[in-house]
Amino acid sequence: MAAKRPLNVGLVGCGFMGRTHSNAWGKVNQFFELEFQPVLKAVCARNPEEVQAFAEQWGYESTETDWRVLVAREDIDLIDIASPNDTHAEIATAAAAAGKMVTTEKPLARGGAESEQMVKAVDAAGVPNMVWYNYRRVPAVTLAKQLVDEGRLGKIFHYRAKFLQDWTISKDLPQGGTALWRLDVNVAGSGVTGDLLAHCIDTALWLNGDIDRVSAMTETFVKERHHNLTGKTEPVGIDDASAFLARFENGSLGTFEATRYARGHKALYTLEINGEHASIMWDLHDLHRLSYFDHGDEGRVRGWRSIHITDSDHPYMAHWWVPGLQIGYEHSFIHQAADFLTGLATGELVSPTFREALATDYVTDAVLKSATSEKWEMVKRA
Ligand SMILES: NC(=O)c1ccc[n+]([C@@H]2O[C@H](COP(=O)([O-])OP(=O)(O)OC[C@H]3O[C@@H](n4cnc5c(N)ncnc54)[C@H](O)[C@@H]3O)[C@@H](O)[C@H]2O)c1
Repeated sequence: MAAKRPLNVGLVGCGFMGRTHSNAWGKVNQFFELEFQPVLKAVCARNPEEVQAFAEQWGYESTETDWRVLVAREDIDLIDIASPNDTHAEIATAAAAAGKMVTTEKPLARGGAESEQMVKAVDAAGVPNMVWYNYRRVPAVTLAKQLVDEGRLGKIFHYRAKFLQDWTISKDLPQGGTALWRLDVNVAGSGVTGDLLAHCIDTALWLNGDIDRVSAMTETFVKERHHNLTGKTEPVGIDDASAFLARFENGSLGTFEATRYARGHKALYTLEINGEHASIMWDLHDLHRLSYFDHGDEGRVRGWRSIHITDSDHPYMAHWWVPGLQIGYEHSFIHQAADFLTGLATGELVSPTFREALATDYVTDAVLKSATSEKWEMVKRA
C-alpha cells in the first residue's frame, strides 16, 4: 500500500471530549484502511500542567496554552475543537481564516447567531469542516438510518426522543469554572436544550428530516447557585429541563425531552420512530442493539426483534472483531474520524458539516423562544 499522507492535528481542550477525540485520531488507522494518517502534533489548554500531562498520556508531540498560537502554527493542518461552547466560534473562525480544516464539538456554538458566523467562515475559506454529533455513528443508529432511507418504515407518523440525566439535582452544586461551565449560561449558551437536546435534534433531523415548528416548555429548578468564578451567589441562567412538541416537514409529530433532574438516569438517550409498516427503538444503554418491529412479518411470529448489531454486514462492524462481539461509546468517535478522513481523500464534505449543524441550533433557538413566548415558533432553515 502507498505511504499514508500525514494529517497534523491540533487539538483544543483536554477534558472529556479531548480524550475521545485523541483516542479516535490515534486508533482510526489501526482499524480502517485510510489514505490519511492523523498525527497528534499539538494539544492546547490554558493550564500548562494539565496540557503537559495530557500530551504525555496521549502521545502529542507538543503543547500550547493559547489557541491563537496553535492556529498560527504552519505545521498544523486541522484544528479540532473540544473546549467549552463559548470558545467554538472564535477558534473556528480564526482557524478557517488561517486556512485550516476545522472540526468542532457540538453544539456548533451558543445559538444560531453565533453559529452562522462559523458557517460563513468555513464557506469563505472553503475548508473541510465537521461537527462531532457522534451518535450518528453508533452502528445501530446508522442501521436505523439505512432502514428509514430504504423506506421500510413507510410513512412516518411519530418521532420520540429523550435524553435524561440526574447530576445537577443538588442545590449545593456550584455553577461556572472548570467542570461546571455547563451550568453557566454565558459559557454554555443554554442548559439541557443546547447540551442534551442538541444530540436528539441532530439525530432526528438526520433520520426524519426538517422540523417546521415547535412548542416548548423549560424549567430552571434551582434559581441561584454559588458561582465558582465570581465567588458570589448568582442567578442560574440555564434551563435544567426542556421538553417540546415538534411538527416535522414530512407530516410526522415529534416529542422531545431532556433533563438533568431525572433521578436514577445518568445518560439515557432513547429514540423511537413509528411508521406505517414498521417501528424502530434505540437506547444508548444498550447501544449495540436495535429494536425493530415489521408489520409485514407473518402474524404468528410477528413481534419486536432485538437485532444484535455485531455482524460484518452491519454498519462499520466489518472493521472490528468477529460477529457476536460488541463495541462501545468510544467507537462512534473513531467511526466519525474514519469518515472525515475518507472524505478528505475523496474530496467530499462529511456530515454533519457546520451548515448541517446550524440547523440544529435553529431548532434549539426556536425551542428556547417558544418556552418564553408560550407559543408555537417556526424554525429557521439553515
Ligand atoms: N459529543 C458528545 O457526546 C459530547 C459530550 C460531552 C461534551 N461535548 C462537547 O464538547 C465540548 C467540551 O466538553 P467537555 O465535556 O470535554 O469539557 P471539559 O470541561 O471536560 O473539558 C474542556 C477542556 O477545554 C479546555 N479549555 C477551556 N477553555 C479553553 C480555552 N479558552 N482554550 C483552550 N482550552 C480551553 C479546558 O482546560 C479543558 O481541558 C463542549 O462543547 C461540549 O458540549 C460533546
